[in-house]
Amino acid sequence: MRQFEDEVSERIKANACDEGLKASAARFVTESIQSRYSYNFTWLGRPIIQYPQDMIAMQEIIWQIKPDLIIETGIAHGGSLIMNASMLALLDYCEAVEAGTALNPRVTRRRVLGIDIDIRSHNRTAIEAHSMTHRIDMIQGSSIEPEIVDRVHAIARGYKKVLVCLDSNHTHEHVLAELQAYAPLVSKGSYCVVFDTIIEDLPNVMFTVRPWGKGNNPKTAVWEYLKSHSEFQIDKSIESKLLITVAPDGYLKRMR
Ligand SMILES: C[S@@+](CC[C@H](N)C(=O)[O-])C[C@H]1O[C@@H](n2cnc3c(N)ncnc32)[C@H](O)[C@@H]1O
Repeated sequence: MRQFEDEVSERIKANACDEGLKASAARFVTESIQSRYSYNFTWLGRPIIQYPQDMIAMQEIIWQIKPDLIIETGIAHGGSLIMNASMLALLDYCEAVEAGTALNPRVTRRRVLGIDIDIRSHNRTAIEAHSMTHRIDMIQGSSIEPEIVDRVHAIARGYKKVLVCLDSNHTHEHVLAELQAYAPLVSKGSYCVVFDTIIEDLPNVMFTVRPWGKGNNPKTAVWEYLKSHSEFQIDKSIESKLLITVAPDGYLKRMR
């Protein structure tokens, strides 16, 4: 296993310097965003607006960190909520198997908290009808409203290991405010994952109908936030591994 891990690590380092491979991946990302590739997938039946590579990264992070609370902004159809809830269910399952104890699926120590400004009624109904619903809480409102931020902080107080994912409004101002509100909740060693940082690397013509674009997006917010928050570092090893990701510079690890 040790030798296998060393080989993986060497390969990831080599891929990070492979200009041909990186150019092919960048081209795929640009063209696939234009073709709305990220809207093609579901997780346990719910549409999830993510790239499969980033979903795998989340699985690896969740297994490594074993959070008891995942906070995510941006629910949409609920796919990422259900994905994260199902990963937490697996953690509880594995823990019960290792401890040799019976698993009660209704006892859900690990939970997901989603925040969205507009939880459409058909999405809420579908999420609430899903078998993962008993480990999901949802709050409707803007993720940067002080009252919503206070509610999230109050909930987070009951948990020991917190992971945060930001995937709502992608303007610089909004994501910076989300980082200021929620990154402090991230536990040491855990992550704040900021999605759609890729906007900075794409041609502006792709976002003519959006309020975000080059110079005004999640990546510029991350850069700004990190200037005064050295407790976080960009985990470059994740994007070097994925090659295809919508979150370059977006996997932020809390170091202290
Ligand atoms: C990209 S989608 C989220 C996708 C979801 N995380 C997934 O992986 O399937 C963005 C969501 O952010 C929500 N949103 C937009 N502005 C927001 C705000 N100010 N606060 C909270 N949510 C917001 C939208 O309503 C939309 O549902």
